[in-house]
Amino acid sequence: MTFPAHRPRRLRQSPAVRRLVRETHLLPSQLVLPAFVREGLTEPHPIGSMPGVVQHSLDSLRRAAAEAATAGVGGIMLFGVPAVRDAIGSAADDPRGILNVATEALVAEVGDALVVQTDLCLDEFTDHGHCGVLRPDGVVDNDATLERYAAMALAQARAGSHLLGLSGMMDGQVAHIRAALEAEGFTDTLILAYAAKYAGAFYGPFREAVDSQLTGDRRTYQLDPPNAREGVREAVTDVDEGADIVMVKPALPYLDVLAAVRDAVDVPVWAYQVSGEYAMIEAAAANGWIDRRGAISEALVAIRRAGADAVLTYWAVEAAGWLREQR
Ligand code: PBG
Repeated sequence: MTFPAHRPRRLRQSPAVRRLVRETHLLPSQLVLPAFVREGLTEPHPIGSMPGVVQHSLDSLRRAAAEAATAGVGGIMLFGVPAVRDAIGSAADDPRGILNVATEALVAEVGDALVVQTDLCLDEFTDHGHCGVLRPDGVVDNDATLERYAAMALAQARAGSHLLGLSGMMDGQVAHIRAALEAEGFTDTLILAYAAKYAGAFYGPFREAVDSQLTGDRRTYQLDPPNAREGVREAVTDVDEGADIVMVKPALPYLDVLAAVRDAVDVPVWAYQVSGEYAMIEAAAANGWIDRRGAISEALVAIRRAGADAVLTYWAVEAAGWLREQR
């Protein structure tokens, strides 16, 4: 009779032992809630492809932010849905634009309890739905877009945003925006660079959430899904340009990129569990095909395990509640 030389099952024998040897922990403070605010709404408006997520009115956004603060969530990332769009996204840097107005309201209300963050990209504000301004041939004009981003950054900083989420994937955006902020004395405004943001199908439900006008795709600026090394290079470049935090997005399909970025830089690394990741689990759960809470919890801890210091997730408030229960 021979016996196993190693018995790894000893470490798994009971909930108490498993808890004691657990390698990865997730805290409510490591979750960031993305939230949509739409100009002109008086009541929240449901998003069909993201059950449980809404376009907020200013009032319902305030309540959602207060709820997130009470739940111990670390921050809130705001996306604006304007009533009027144009070719250059004028509403983005208008101090009366919906995103800037909402930012000011939230900073006043929950600014001590939550890190108030703003999406810095033009796609919600342009009538063609691209993340920048277009050249006559229809391609996004990188350097002209940087000027628009700088104006947007200053408007958001003036509105009190604590952290700017640079999600447009233009070359040089971090350096350009950092310089614009410094020149105006905004030395404390944090920059989160969506360093490795991949073009693909997982943003589908988000496009409904922001009433996106996009036809075509973003493949000339967002990363090509097969490329991992290129994602790491983007992250290293963004840190060099002055990013305080870098992001990998989407999260679950890109855990390899996340782990590689974690090894390559020494700033905080975040991941965005995007709308498509949300919709997949919600749809499967609604059909009774997957255990909803189990799948959400497992996905979140997997993203942490791969190297994310914090996770943007539409489940932030609910997951924070589960995490408090567990302890
Ligand atoms: C661009 C932006 C997008 C998302 C966040 N910021 C859309 C895109 O790149 O098409 C997607 C987030 C999600 O899918 O949850 N402003």
